[in-house]
Amino acid sequence: MSHALAERARQVLRANDRGGYTIPTAGLYPFQWNWDASVCALGWMTFDEPRAWQEIETLFSGMWTEQDYGGGSAGLLGHITFHQDADSYFPGPDEWGTQALRLRTSSISQPPLHATMVRWMLERAQDQGAAEAAVRRLLPRLAAHHRWWYRTRDPEGSGLVRVLHPWETGMDNSPAWDAPLAAVPATSRAYRRRDLDHVDASMRPPKAFYDRVVYLMDANREAGFDPVRMAREGRFQVNDVGIVCILQRASRDLVELALRLGDEALAGEMAAQVARTQGAVRALWSQRWQQPVSRDLLTGALLDEPTSAGLLAAYAGFDLDIAPAVRNALAQTLHGVASTRLASAAYDAPRYWRGPVWQHMNLLIARGLAECGHTDLHDRIRASSAQLFEQSGFHEYFHPETGSGLGGKDFSWTAATYLHWIAAEAA
Ligand code: DGY
Repeated sequence: MSHALAERARQVLRANDRGGYTIPTAGLYPFQWNWDASVCALGWMTFDEPRAWQEIETLFSGMWTEQDYGGGSAGLLGHITFHQDADSYFPGPDEWGTQALRLRTSSISQPPLHATMVRWMLERAQDQGAAEAAVRRLLPRLAAHHRWWYRTRDPEGSGLVRVLHPWETGMDNSPAWDAPLAAVPATSRAYRRRDLDHVDASMRPPKAFYDRVVYLMDANREAGFDPVRMAREGRFQVNDVGIVCILQRASRDLVELALRLGDEALAGEMAAQVARTQGAVRALWSQRWQQPVSRDLLTGALLDEPTSAGLLAAYAGFDLDIAPAVRNALAQTLHGVASTRLASAAYDAPRYWRGPVWQHMNLLIARGLAECGHTDLHDRIRASSAQLFEQSGFHEYFHPETGSGLGGKDFSWTAATYLHWIAAEAA
């Protein structure tokens, strides 16, 4: 751990602070992103606790209520919250059709890390009184968001929620989505991408991807954001193993938070959801890859492309042994876990989720392994991550073979991951 690097990480968060929320990086992502916000809060927690709680509270101020698009979608937490306008990003606030909201957001969500990050923040808080007060304020909103996932994304009560958009997975262009996305029509309308103004095209998804994600965005608006219609008519419906793991872990943590604050009814409600998913996840197990994978709900097929998402199974607390798959992943790169297997035909070293290493994923995967008793694997991933921070700083993601920084520069969640996992634990 280097003090200079920790100070640089704090500077990244301060420079990306827009007053109550942190943008991921200037230009490329000028709004508040959902799963980024939770990781950013972990980083703020190491040097400014009030600001850390504010990050999560600002995010949840954009959660949809019954007054927005009806009770059915209450509890949706957008993957982007547009606290102010910016023209450096597509699709910005005017594209989603959510103008009726008090605070505009996108119409899809993102991995629900929040309850877990809130629990980790509470554990680390120096000011326990302020932390408990913040958790008390947040608890009903966390509960509403988890209920939204279970109610609208698993209406059959199967135990496995679905996503309706690749952006919802947070792992936008993962090769696991290639097959289900190929069945989505390409939009015929004109649009102008802005990401390529900031980052080289070799690191970003291609036009064929954007043509389909724009189609899916527009379809939500045409369905009036009615979750029943969206779940019935959606052209992309996937049990994303990443979301299943992250929601499972967050619901376990929500049980603990609820118990701590004396809300036994909420604890019981979430424990029942956890139990249902615990059994259901076996349907995602890939014998071939010895890890869970995602499933296309429209065809019923397992998506035969193992990615780092499935290595979150230990973090989720699933009763699945992924240690051999993690060992295999660690043998492929010196920098932790690559998002896509290097031997995959879809592997593309610099391209976003088709190869690169992401430091927050290293953290989540490693923490889960430590909790299952695989401290050796945790320590290996942490040591590789620490080395990568020293070598390449706080880029959005990293080349799995060279460790060079890729995507956006001075990236908030990368800096936050360093502060929480490397700097604070070494202090
Ligand atoms: C993007 O624009 O690449 C984002 O990941 C979408 O959330």
